[in-house]
Amino acid sequence: MTDDIAAGSPVSDLSSPADAYVGDPSVRAEWDSRYIDRAQLWSGRPNGALVAEIAGLTPGRVLDVGCGEGADTVWLARRGWEVTALEVSGVALERAAGHARDAGLTVRWVHAELTGAALPPASFDLVSAQYPALLRTPDAAAERALLAAVAPGGVLLLVHHAGMDTQEAHEGGFDPADYVWPSMVADLLDDDWEVEVDERRPRVAPEGGAGAHHTDDMVLRVRRLR
Ligand SMILES: C[S@@+](CC[C@H](N)C(=O)[O-])C[C@H]1O[C@@H](n2cnc3c(N)ncnc32)[C@H](O)[C@@H]1O
Repeated sequence: MTDDIAAGSPVSDLSSPADAYVGDPSVRAEWDSRYIDRAQLWSGRPNGALVAEIAGLTPGRVLDVGCGEGADTVWLARRGWEVTALEVSGVALERAAGHARDAGLTVRWVHAELTGAALPPASFDLVSAQYPALLRTPDAAAERALLAAVAPGGVLLLVHHAGMDTQEAHEGGFDPADYVWPSMVADLLDDDWEVEVDERRPRVAPEGGAGAHHTDDMVLRVRRLR
């Protein structure tokens, strides 16, 4: 199922679920179970912040981090972007690949955790991470991986639901301290980066799907200068 991105061979056919997933099996299993629970988890429409933020960008190579069921991936590919879509859930990837296939689009699929993927460094004109559920580690591996994938002159667009980082931990469930938030990526930026957007704003939410109740986004858009 996984495209061997290191070998540079694009694969758009996800026919075999027995694939070479790279990452923590428990992370994959947790997300697979969320997707299996619903025939369709998300709205099927592109995220509003992505649509707004890339309006002025020339299509190039884009990495869609945590692509889910592929609505952003398909939307980007339709607009001429050369998309690499990365996801831990094989269930979600199969759905995303089906949508791309139906639309006659070629996408490079990577079935991996962001930090385990053999992504070519500094090679994407746009790294888009829309509400990614990236687990935090002491070495800030996920934050660094997001930044490392951006080519000189390229953009990282990281969007998350506002306010979640300050929520109380739920018993037996969500603890914001476990996850990567835009402020943590912003904290790692040095002189090689220019902050173009770092703000909270009302969310332009796609209709329907889980997560539709979130009303505000945190949007971090940074450009790699060199
Ligand atoms: C809240 S969903 C967002 C999906 C999609 N970006 C969207 O906006 O519809 C988060 C996604 O991140 C994926 N994910 C979780 N941990 C990940 C990791 N370490 N690397 C890549 N994707 C991950 C999940 O499987 C899930 O599909």
